[in-house]
Amino acid sequence: MSIQEKCRILDHQQIAPQHFKLTLVSKYISAHGLPGQFINVKVSDSYDPLLRRPLSLHRIMPEEESFELLYEVVGKGTELLSKRTVGSEIDVLGPLGSGFSLEQKEIAVLVGGGMGVAPLLALAEALKDPVASSQGPGAKAIYVLLGARNRARVLAEKEFRSVTEQVLIATDDGSYGKKGFVSDILIDVLENTLEPRTQNLAVIYACGPDLMLKAVTDIAFQKKIPAQVSMEQRMACGIGTCLGCVIGTKNGYKKVCDDGPVFNSEELIWQD
Ligand SMILES: Cc1cc2nc3c(=O)[nH]c(=O)nc-3n(C[C@H](O)[C@H](O)[C@H](O)COP(=O)(O)OP(=O)(O)OC[C@H]3O[C@@H](n4cnc5c(N)ncnc54)[C@H](O)[C@@H]3O)c2cc1C
Ligand code: FES
Repeated sequence: MSIQEKCRILDHQQIAPQHFKLTLVSKYISAHGLPGQFINVKVSDSYDPLLRRPLSLHRIMPEEESFELLYEVVGKGTELLSKRTVGSEIDVLGPLGSGFSLEQKEIAVLVGGGMGVAPLLALAEALKDPVASSQGPGAKAIYVLLGARNRARVLAEKEFRSVTEQVLIATDDGSYGKKGFVSDILIDVLENTLEPRTQNLAVIYACGPDLMLKAVTDIAFQKKIPAQVSMEQRMACGIGTCLGCVIGTKNGYKKVCDDGPVFNSEELIWQD
């Protein structure tokens, strides 16, 4: 169940030229939020902009009764959000959507591209410590593959490294990690590090731009590995009533905000 509440800003830091980390206090969302779920944020106290903005739960910290968001300023809404100050309150609706379901697999491979890394930290922490997060089975080995345009845009590396030693990075321009796409490192890890252990033992969780998700889905299909993919779509209500975020799937039309944002990769239809 989701609730609407005013959450106090505990911390708000600029971590890169256009990127911010925001910590909000909420006993309810930190207790009930799951990795892959999101909240819908009213970025200003006025009616401009009218629509809330969806942001993923980046870290879920029930003991501190708080949660973190990681966001990039891309337009008016996120620009307004970036001006909100510590101690003030933000109107939030959440937790929303269906998150990742933790699968009983020994090896979890998390693939994040650009801002798609945002929900993967909460997932990595839940996989590492399933008891503390009370979210089902964990994984013996966690691989985190991060893709970004350049070094400045590699996000949350330190936080992922505190969860697992297996953090691999690809940048489009080669300024950090391997030059190329994060899907290239996925193939490399599957073929050169994990095979033949992948089949039946591994699961892929991915979030990022559509092109990356399509590539990950194709690789998962070829390697016969299950994959869960978090989709992004422009949203209005965020609660399944306006039909503004509908996508076609092999099982009919689905609402990204309500049926998703996380879907099994086999269900998805990609446009060429
Ligand atoms: C389920 C979900 C979870 C998300 N989680 C995060 C997150 O953790 N961190 C984060 O930085 N962003 C996240 N986003 C994207 C975020 O919601 C948008 O960047 C934000 O709403 C943009 O608002 P704005 O007013 O600043 O920009 P706008 O002025 O509305 O748009 C600026 C530009 O961003 C593009 N854009 C806006 N919304 C989206 C979207 N949903 N998908 C693709 N492109 C978009 C527009 O096409 C336009 O080019 C998420 C989106 C969804 C659907
Ligand atoms: S945003 Fe309204 S139904 Fe999904």
